[in-house]
Amino acid sequence: MAYNATSTPTNPLTAPLPPTPNLTPAERATERFSVTGNAIVTGGAGGLGLEAARALLEHGLKGLCLFDIASSFTASRAALQTLSDTFPEAKIIEEVVDVADEGAVQAAVERTAEALGSVDVLLCFAGIAGSAPAVDMSLELWQKVMDINLTGSWLCAKYAAKEMIKQKTGGSIVLVSSVAGYKSLFPLYAPAYSVSKSAVIGLTTNLAAEWAQHGIRVNCVCPGYMETAMTSVPRAQPGIQAYIDRTPLGRIGQPSELAGPVVMFCSPAGRYITGVSIMVNGGNHTI
Ligand SMILES: NC(=O)c1ccc[n+]([C@@H]2O[C@H](COP(=O)([O-])OP(=O)(O)OC[C@H]3O[C@@H](n4cnc5c(N)ncnc54)[C@H](O)[C@@H]3O)[C@@H](O)[C@H]2O)c1
Repeated sequence: MAYNATSTPTNPLTAPLPPTPNLTPAERATERFSVTGNAIVTGGAGGLGLEAARALLEHGLKGLCLFDIASSFTASRAALQTLSDTFPEAKIIEEVVDVADEGAVQAAVERTAEALGSVDVLLCFAGIAGSAPAVDMSLELWQKVMDINLTGSWLCAKYAAKEMIKQKTGGSIVLVSSVAGYKSLFPLYAPAYSVSKSAVIGLTTNLAAEWAQHGIRVNCVCPGYMETAMTSVPRAQPGIQAYIDRTPLGRIGQPSELAGPVVMFCSPAGRYITGVSIMVNGGNHTI
């Protein structure tokens, strides 16, 4: 395929799926949101990543590799055990990996492809907030936020895409931005976080354009405040109240409420969707 080509109507990786004959209406509904193959979920021991991983398994995922740092795997051990107990037929494995370390990401993606047989889906949930006022923030913290939230997403997408291209099967990548990708989180000070999440939206359109010819769709979710460890810290509370005051649905979200859009992107329901960033924020952008 050409270096800078779009896909074509005859490319089987991007053409409409042929209808499966003789399905009941209920079977067609299931097929529409079915998830096939194997997935990597970064930040997979965290609140949103774990919930999204569970949703992929509920919709048919066969194999799952969670990427995260050691301390988060330890902290989430009970929840991870529950996940394995709930899906005994799925192969669920873990990789301790810093997503900002290119060598570690490459090795972990290659080991995952070997262990599971393929990489078909990637969800990039690894992220940190790194909140600090712009005048006080150290360059070190600024760069750490960029390295994990932005560069880490690109590195994981890069090596997952290499596997998908090699497999010639296509795939689906979901990046994770935030409402902070569109506006400040004031009164919370999080300039680096906000800039990193804006850049993830730009990364989404670029990777979607580059990799469509390989049947790889790249989309992004932009959650509003969701109830996780990241939002339970005391310093986040004034910002959360300000968010609720400007949110038509009048509350923060639950991790399970992000699962539907993620499943849609990774299933036949999302077959003609690539390069979009979808807000999952109770309407917070409207006020
Ligand atoms: N919770 C929210 O309100 C909210 C809102 C918008 C966007 N987000 C985004 O959703 C994603 C998940 O957030 P969450 O709420 O589940 O937070 P979380 O802290 O529960 O999960 C984040 C996970 O990323 C992991 N991680 C951090 N640095 C890493 C690194 N260098 N390498 C590998 N893993 C690393 C953490 O260990 C953690 O398990 C983040 O990208 C966050 O910015 C969250």
